[in-house]
Amino acid sequence: MAGPGQELGLRFQRHFLAARPLRSMPWEHESTAADPLDELYDALGRILNEEESTRCYRNYLLPSGEPVTLCESVAIISQGTTGLVTWDAALHLAEWAAENPAVFSDRTVLELGSGVGFTGLAICKTCNPKTYIFSDYHHCVLKQLTENIRLNGFALEPEATDPARAESPGQEAEGKKYQQPKLIVAELDWGSVTEKQLLGLQADVVIAADVVYDPEVTLSLIGMLQKFSTLSADRKPSEIYIALTVRNPDTYHWFQAELDKAGIRWQTIPAHSSNIFLHDTQPNVTILQLFM
Ligand SMILES: C[S@@+](CC[C@H](N)C(=O)[O-])C[C@H]1O[C@@H](n2cnc3c(N)ncnc32)[C@H](O)[C@@H]1O
Repeated sequence: MAGPGQELGLRFQRHFLAARPLRSMPWEHESTAADPLDELYDALGRILNEEESTRCYRNYLLPSGEPVTLCESVAIISQGTTGLVTWDAALHLAEWAAENPAVFSDRTVLELGSGVGFTGLAICKTCNPKTYIFSDYHHCVLKQLTENIRLNGFALEPEATDPARAESPGQEAEGKKYQQPKLIVAELDWGSVTEKQLLGLQADVVIAADVVYDPEVTLSLIGMLQKFSTLSADRKPSEIYIALTVRNPDTYHWFQAELDKAGIRWQTIPAHSSNIFLHDTQPNVTILQLFM
């Protein structure tokens, strides 16, 4: 078992590798009897004096110790999009997934508004999906997402409307089917996607993180979700999970009311106990399960 000093060191390491803000680091070590390490302060001083860069690399450690490495923007909005950084809802959804791998195991997962890819990469490394379809509509986001997938050692399948057709025969022949998930990046705009495209994706599970923040964005998301309900029962995704940060309770209640209006039933998923990525922060993130 790690002692308190070691545990503090590990927490610091996780914060540092994920480039979390300095204020969120576990500075309470100052109040312990431990001597501060001069080298650490020197390194900190050097970093604080570095010139600002517009991108950075973040490493999020999985419970196994394996990292998900992402190149992200340092600004929360850049190139006109919020999609170039990892949001807390993405971390929260990945934590929940790690506690519920059966939801994803051996299934085709479609993620909406994937951003730079954290949730999907964490699920691919922890939950053994059959196929994982990352999607987004913003050109720069799709480019960064693709780079991040490769950065984590995954090969991409060509985008196909029917993921079954993208299956690599070599993997089946070796009897290794499903051991390495098939990863696809799809350009998918909720405002213009057609029922035919959704049908072609053959998703068993649909997930999304932090896609409820603006009325226009949210209404186009709900419009797209309604298209799933027009698919025949055996082609509809059986489960849909949306993780959202409740920044404004009015927006949250408005979203629920709009789901009701659209005839989409929903329930909140009970909060999970793990605290793998979010460390000391307590964001107001909740997960809704939707029923088609
Ligand atoms: C706040 S970011 C969340 C990114 C990521 N899921 C996360 O939580 O870190 C919202 C994402 O939704 C995407 N998005 C917004 N409107 C969209 C639309 N109409 N179609 C597809 N993606 C959209 C954006 O490009 C962006 O990547």
